[in-house]
Amino acid sequence: MTPSMPAAPPVESFVRRDGSLCCERVPLAEIADRFGTPTYVYSRASIEGALAAYQAALGGRSSLVCYAMKANSNLAVLNLLARAGSGFDIVSGGELARVIAAGGDPRKVVFSGVGKTEGEIALALAADILCFNLESVAELEMVERVAASAGRRARVSVRVNPDVDPKTHPYISTGLRSNKFGVAYDDTLPLYRRAAAMPHIDVVGIDCHIGSRIGEIAPFLEAADRLLDLVDALGNEGIALSHIDFGGGLDIRYRDETPPAAASLIAALLARVDARGHDGKTLLVEPGRSIVGPAGALLTRVNIVKPGQEKNFLVVDAAMNDLVRPALYDAWMDVQPVRWRRGPVRTYDIVGPICESGDWLARERELAADAGDLLAVLGAGAYGMSMASNYNSRGRAAEVMVDDDRVYEVRRRERIEDLFALESTLP
Ligand code: LLP
Repeated sequence: MTPSMPAAPPVESFVRRDGSLCCERVPLAEIADRFGTPTYVYSRASIEGALAAYQAALGGRSSLVCYAMKANSNLAVLNLLARAGSGFDIVSGGELARVIAAGGDPRKVVFSGVGKTEGEIALALAADILCFNLESVAELEMVERVAASAGRRARVSVRVNPDVDPKTHPYISTGLRSNKFGVAYDDTLPLYRRAAAMPHIDVVGIDCHIGSRIGEIAPFLEAADRLLDLVDALGNEGIALSHIDFGGGLDIRYRDETPPAAASLIAALLARVDARGHDGKTLLVEPGRSIVGPAGALLTRVNIVKPGQEKNFLVVDAAMNDLVRPALYDAWMDVQPVRWRRGPVRTYDIVGPICESGDWLARERELAADAGDLLAVLGAGAYGMSMASNYNSRGRAAEVMVDDDRVYEVRRRERIEDLFALESTLP
């Protein structure tokens, strides 16, 4: 299923030229002038390069990269990935509709999530998606019921909770016994037996996803081994699977982390699969952050400089509603001045205008800055805009995609009237 693509060179999407921060060949200052701030800026080459790295590592195998689109579901992003042969990992009917609107192939879609509704399952069946990644007995029964009434068969995989510690932030670890995700390891075989006996179910795969921001290969291999044990056990019972889906979760460098390259992770997984004699199976992965994270920056302007007795604040025009990762996960994101400025370097907290003390983008950063200066929050391509909200009645930011020396607006800035367009008052 993987088109043959050359290994992409590592993409440095955000680089300084003559002291001015650029995305590919476009100075961010030009983008701010043209589109205003706050604006998300994405690099096409970076997104395509990241997908190509996974595809090249899987090259020559029956495989499919299913981009976890919750990381960034802008139609332009999805469309570029679809054109390059990507599949998609979705978690809602809304995400399926986006895949279709972006020209993606529903038959390359896997549907994850603990709370799929009957309506969503019916839509996905009608679109003939590749596979439902089941997370419970109740969901299996629901899929059988919906498939029966639609007169169709549903392809399914069981999302196994392998009880592996991904050693990451508790909010984004998903493969521990205490997490709501997946089917407990010991319950997996009985669930497969039931599924295999159902008239409208085709058992085709097995999957797991143990968490996000995983910075080492070891937890992936531990989970893979547990999955492969189940594949063997199922084979012994005559339940043959055609694919194994190892999920996503590979970290990126936000500060000084040194996560393995996608190619190293895939090579290690393939070695495990081959050693266990499963080289004939189709392999799936569901990367999100590592495809789009490095490709995006949030461009924002300093509005107010507020020196304080205990802290100095730079109040910028982006806020936690635009980028919630710092507030939600205490995440450290790199903030760079778009142009260097001479002048006193001070230690600042970089905060937004929202009425919450948790509204910060970065803390205790040393930089020289003044009102009107542009800053770029790097590594913001994943879980930035896709988690944005309208809190404080703030319209969501514009999004632009840079392709070499061209800039395309891929989502216009929300206007105030957009914010209450769906609301009405009582008669
Ligand atoms: N597959 C499944 C079933 C998932 O739940 C996720 C992410 C992925 C794949 C992709 O994982 P990735 O490769 O992006 O690590 N908002 C958080 C991250 C939440 C991840 C949720 N699941 C953050 O900003 O750090």
